[in-house]
Amino acid sequence: MRKARVRIALLSVVLMATTGTLAACSTTNTGSTTDVSGGETVKIGLLLPESKTTRYESFDRPLFEAKLKSLGNYEIVYANADQDAAKQLQQAESALTQGIAVLVLDPVDAAAAASIVASARSQDVPVISYDRLITSEDLAYYVSFDNEQVGVLQGTALVDKIEENGGATDPQGIVMINGSPTDGNAAQFKKGAHSVIDPSGIPILAEYDTPDWSPDKAQEFMAGQITQYGDDIIGVYAANDGTAGGAIAALMAAGTDPLPPVTGQDAELAAIQRIVAGDQFMTVYKAIKAEAELAAEIAHQLATGETPEGDTTVEGTPSTLLTPVVVTVANIMDTVVADGFYTVEQICTAEYAEACTAAGIE
Ligand code: GAL
Repeated sequence: MRKARVRIALLSVVLMATTGTLAACSTTNTGSTTDVSGGETVKIGLLLPESKTTRYESFDRPLFEAKLKSLGNYEIVYANADQDAAKQLQQAESALTQGIAVLVLDPVDAAAAASIVASARSQDVPVISYDRLITSEDLAYYVSFDNEQVGVLQGTALVDKIEENGGATDPQGIVMINGSPTDGNAAQFKKGAHSVIDPSGIPILAEYDTPDWSPDKAQEFMAGQITQYGDDIIGVYAANDGTAGGAIAALMAAGTDPLPPVTGQDAELAAIQRIVAGDQFMTVYKAIKAEAELAAEIAHQLATGETPEGDTTVEGTPSTLLTPVVVTVANIMDTVVADGFYTVEQICTAEYAEACTAAGIE
């Protein structure tokens, strides 16, 4: 990356010397000249998968846009698919028709999105697979977190907590609520979690892949498991904070007390507050700022004709995989607060003030 940035800078110097302009012109994949620092606006497509999880509209989108705009004269062609793969296909077609130079795509359906990549490539538009890997060999770059590690962190935290609570006695066990079956990341979270839970010997009472990552469907499934297994549920593996919220709502509605440990992911504000209140056991914090800003830098490199170099390779695609972090009540201050993801004021609203003080979050 540094190399690419140096090359862009050098190119500008050469151009300034030869043309007397300040524009950092370079050749895009279409062979036309793109000027990202002068008058001409370059369009970049950003397609995100859903809005039930708060991260996309609250973090990914604004952070990506702000970074990209700081890098040049860019216009973002944005759309959210609301978990509908057919809608995402239309949104991609529309973005390509509008003449985007690069497409940043977080797919609803990893396999179905391959046709979007093929269509973009046929128009010489490079595609960055954002957060979720698209099943395609034609990707320019993949930016994400180590997703299997996310599952390992969730599974380890849950198993350790159950053991700390005295372990499982027959017929006790865990309920697993995984993510969407069309999301490749969900399969990796699940694989990582199983790699820890299966050898622990703690039985899995029931397991479910949540369509669309829907909190409502997670809640409905959990309610059914409570009817069947009641207090024998001594832990809930929930793949993200949305499904964790659904599971916890079902447990509370059934009057379960105390609540069993419930995992999560995304460090959503509501989940951090549930952790402070003792209703959710843990979440996984993924530094979305780093992910979104890196995607913007890679998009900028591609738009200016550079070939970004990955830190690693995933399925043949140059990639960067960032590191996920466990958050429990013990390290909220050192993680999401220290990183500026949330302020203490945002977390400790009147309803949580007392619990915040007790947890030393102030
Ligand atoms: C995953 C993503 C998670 C979570 C989930 C629900 O692919 O990595 O951060 O948001 O989707 O949309």
